[in-house]
Amino acid sequence: MPSGSPGLVLFLAYAVRDTAHHVLASPCAAVPRRFEGQVCVVTGAVQGIGAAVAARLAAEGARAVWILDKADGSDAAKGLEKATPGIKAGALQLDLAEEGQVQKAIAEVLRESGRIDVLVQGAGITGKTNVKSHEVELSDFQRVFDVNVKAIFLCSKAVLPSMLKSGYGRIVNIASISGKDGNAGMLAYSSSKAAVINLTKVMGKEYANLGKDITINCIAPAVVQTAMVDAMPKEQVKYMTDKIPMGRTGKLDEVASTILFAASQDCSFTTGFCFDASGGRTVY
Ligand SMILES: NC(=O)c1ccc[n+]([C@@H]2O[C@H](COP(=O)([O-])OP(=O)(O)OC[C@H]3O[C@@H](n4cnc5c(N)ncnc54)[C@H](O)[C@@H]3O)[C@@H](O)[C@H]2O)c1
Repeated sequence: MPSGSPGLVLFLAYAVRDTAHHVLASPCAAVPRRFEGQVCVVTGAVQGIGAAVAARLAAEGARAVWILDKADGSDAAKGLEKATPGIKAGALQLDLAEEGQVQKAIAEVLRESGRIDVLVQGAGITGKTNVKSHEVELSDFQRVFDVNVKAIFLCSKAVLPSMLKSGYGRIVNIASISGKDGNAGMLAYSSSKAAVINLTKVMGKEYANLGKDITINCIAPAVVQTAMVDAMPKEQVKYMTDKIPMGRTGKLDEVASTILFAASQDCSFTTGFCFDASGGRTVY
């Protein structure tokens, strides 16, 4: 092809376009900034899935990321500020199952940051597992429901008025595949996660037609190797992992990716829904 011919010019134009497309689509491309200027609250973000979500929200431009956790989150907050200069990371230590503590913490976030755009609810406990239903202790059952269900209700209740006022909000609750499928040996946990899925369906509908851009969804992960899973009996973890068609556990980043979509402005026509992150285990 002679140089300067119209064919060469066209060829080069396509090459540049395709290269640009490849760079934009490649995993090495710049991190998106879906949360630019937003204030995000992540419960249970001292470790595990919550921590992965908090780090991604910060990396994607959040103005402030608040960690609400029973454990001390000050190191985690410092880590976020170090990794993402310019963001404000705060840590509030509380029991999310206590209404007064939740109200106080959310009031502090609103006082400091002015609004809450995103609430991701990752705090959760399994309670005792690998036990038959008749062996479940009432106190264990109650505590699992207090942390996994009541806390989600309390946090949503505390945050929703500010979302209604600003006209924007994303709530993402972390449920579990066990809430759909029911894991034997995990009566309290599985039934609490079923409650989270249904609570999300109710809330999603209630705020869907108010002329506000508020969506409320949940996610149902299968096994992800975190401290929570490390603490479970090996037989119970094997039972859960064996049920995953992909034949492997999920990675923190994979679950965080689904959560981040549900927490972003892109998730504007889906509410009251349960997203899957189960390696194929979900059948509905
Ligand atoms: N890891 C998995 O395989 C898996 C699978 C499905 C669903 N989930 C759900 O994802 C969420 C996160 O799980 P993870 O594996 O990252 O757990 P994790 O144990 O690593 O982290 C949970 C966090 O919640 C905090 N927390 C617990 N009780 C609290 C309370 N009363 N008040 C405030 N904070 C409290 C803990 O301190 C901890 O930082 C949980 O809701 C869990 O049920 C996990």
